[in-house]
Amino acid sequence: MPVTLIVGTQWGDEGKGKIVDYYAEHTDYVVRFQGGSNAGHTIKVGEETYKLHLLPSGVVRGKIGIIGNGVVVDPEVLIKEIEMLEEREIKLNLLISDRANVVMPYHKLLDGAEESYLGSKKIGTTKRGIGPCYSDKVARRGIRIVDLLDKEVLRKKLEIILPVKQRLLDVYGIKHDLDIDELVKEYSEYGEKIRNFVTDASIELRRAIDGNKSILLEGAQGTMLDVDFGTYPYTTSSHTVAGGACIGCGISPKDIDEIIGVVKAYTTRVGGGPLPSELKDDVGRHLQEKGGEFGTTTGRARRCGWLDLVVVKHACLVSGVTKLAITKLDVLDGLKTLKVCTSYKCNDKMLSTFPAKTELLEKCEPVFVELDGWDHIDRDARSFDDLPENAQSYLKFIEKEVGIKIALVSIGPERNETIAL
Ligand code: GDP
Ligand code: IMO
Ligand code: MG
Repeated sequence: MPVTLIVGTQWGDEGKGKIVDYYAEHTDYVVRFQGGSNAGHTIKVGEETYKLHLLPSGVVRGKIGIIGNGVVVDPEVLIKEIEMLEEREIKLNLLISDRANVVMPYHKLLDGAEESYLGSKKIGTTKRGIGPCYSDKVARRGIRIVDLLDKEVLRKKLEIILPVKQRLLDVYGIKHDLDIDELVKEYSEYGEKIRNFVTDASIELRRAIDGNKSILLEGAQGTMLDVDFGTYPYTTSSHTVAGGACIGCGISPKDIDEIIGVVKAYTTRVGGGPLPSELKDDVGRHLQEKGGEFGTTTGRARRCGWLDLVVVKHACLVSGVTKLAITKLDVLDGLKTLKVCTSYKCNDKMLSTFPAKTELLEKCEPVFVELDGWDHIDRDARSFDDLPENAQSYLKFIEKEVGIKIALVSIGPERNETIAL
């Protein structure tokens, strides 16, 4: 598997970090290609827990990490993360694309301002400045990593950008003390701190691919948060689907050999927007508590629901997923009956594909198939046959409905609590 892409098939937090870490053992490079510090990927190795927001999960294993051009980088967060790993004596092998856009302080202020303006209709963003930063990138008024390495260039760009941002913040009634001299000083200092990591990452990747190195592309967020294919406008601002990977690190679609869709055994979402299979009862609370469903980045409680295969099938279709990785199967332990959503009922019509119209989706009712639950998955289970019979049936049901083979099953947060099929 020279180039393997890992994408989330739901609303993020599927356990991508754990799956990337698992595959990273036999990988040379691990690449982030979209999103920013809105992501929170957890890796658990024995007593150690790593929560990564910008660094690719493979750096924990000492692999070469690449932050691709499609990522929006908050240098303050990145430097803290680098220091955190250094303190834990992890030798960092990192390359940052010179073309990646930079999250600036006004992006974070505007993220908060736009959310306050929306009031009850707010998206529930992570307030990490993601939307405003991607907006500036597409509007061609972004600051890129390469600009942090040249004080004069940075100043010239900010001279154009900053007055507009200041006015915008005034319109929103947001107090700020944005000062061009201070910004140039602070951000060029960040530039100096990361200078040695900055490079044309796509050239490095081309060399690696041509040299038959093994590469993992680590998606952030999930398909339902994709700005086109998700529950728009309750999405993030990047392309989380497989297509985003090529644009976000400068490789060809022909380079990708395998696309693994990570599926949590149930569904969660943080923030606003529709969640058709949501459980607002004791079962939902059980999943939240047992699954530790609290945001890695913001600490917010994640909304929980039954597994929704309309969502998973939609994700597999738009990304061309070739294998599935099922995570957190252990969290379903002890539930007598399990429900899986296989279609929606909307205005007396049955719907088996995911609708574009969010307002319609809000009126849809999930149609469930019921399956028998199991008592307990042995954390030492390492083969399919070690799983309780009903857990095996649950997995077979997913495979049959989605029509894609399962390659991995995760039964705990630890690296080794994983079953390869
Ligand atoms: P990501 O954003 O997709 O990387 O996922 P997060 O790290 O935000 O959230 C997943 C959470 O579930 C983390 O706390 C993981 O340690 C944990 N986790 C991952 N896989 C499993 C699993 O199979 N079982 C259990 N119980 N926890 C898991
Ligand atoms: P990982 O990579 C779950 C959600 C936010 C909000 C919406 C928009 O850990 O799976 P943004 O700050 O991106 O503008 O917020 O997207 N969101 C995530 N939810 N996991 C994530 O990342 C997320 N990143 C953003 O909660 O609903
Ligand atoms: Mg997460």
